[in-house]
Amino acid sequence: MSSTMKVVNTKSELIELLEEAKKTGKTVGFVPTMGALHEGHISLLTECKRHCDVSVLSIFVNPTQFNDPADLERYPRTPEKDFSLLEDNGCNIVFYPSVEEIYPEQDTRKFDFGYIESIMEGAKRPGHFNGVAQVVSKLFYIVKPDKAFFGMKDFQQIAVIKKMVEILKMPIEIVECPIIREKSGLALSSRNKLLSDEHKKNAPHIHSILKKATNLATEIPTSELKEFIKKEIDKNSYLETEYVEIVDAETLRVITEPYPETKTVVCVAVYAGKIRLIDNIAINPSNAQH
Ligand code: PAJ
Repeated sequence: MSSTMKVVNTKSELIELLEEAKKTGKTVGFVPTMGALHEGHISLLTECKRHCDVSVLSIFVNPTQFNDPADLERYPRTPEKDFSLLEDNGCNIVFYPSVEEIYPEQDTRKFDFGYIESIMEGAKRPGHFNGVAQVVSKLFYIVKPDKAFFGMKDFQQIAVIKKMVEILKMPIEIVECPIIREKSGLALSSRNKLLSDEHKKNAPHIHSILKKATNLATEIPTSELKEFIKKEIDKNSYLETEYVEIVDAETLRVITEPYPETKTVVCVAVYAGKIRLIDNIAINPSNAQH
């Protein structure tokens, strides 16, 4: 693959480009995104380049995964800035299709992810994960990558994608990448661009409470821990917790006493004004009370 980055808008162009690379035995890595790129996305691209010969990154604000039309409307779009950031970071191919290119007709597929879509984001954002699966499956059918890279920031999304790959029997390895944060502790997110200065200043409070919670996990039961997190986050008048959940990292089963030997994850969704932020933190089994 030459060092100049290619931006392609159509499926046919992309398939043709990739066929050339695959013919010569090159492995293909894929990073799906909705653009307004930040260091979190770039960390996925870096992992992708480390694992695979050819890196493909898609930028597509997928309408079918937005359960709130206002959220879709205001979602930040910065394609030119994104392209130059990707070029600087050595991306090989950017796929930047139109909505018509991805959805020439309505996608009426309904996935059944069972339990894992019934809680947290699945419960609060009806249809969201079905939309994610629609677009990611379409992108997977086009790119046919060897590996695809996802961030643990969207912890439940990874579980859904793994299940989707299993249901559709796609031979694609899903690689999980760690959450990238600002120095303040705030998890990077495209939606951070929409925060007012005051909300931006106060949003790091979410991570600092989650960090405190991981230390407390050795001392108090899960029900109290959840209450503590909600109360502490909501003490900040710029923030309002939507949910706090403590789940098994593998099965996503909700944890009640006692803490298991397996890894657990605390997940939260918090409104900072109109903007909804999600974050999570792992509780190391050795920290936790048994
Ligand atoms: P988007 O929110 O753009 O995120 C694209 C990828 O970047 C996801 O895998 C997400 O988990 C990862 N990511 C976002 N912020 C991150 C951070 N701070 N650290 C590490 N990784 C981070 O997730 C989506 O888009 C969409 O649902 C998509 C999968 C593209 C389907 O439309």
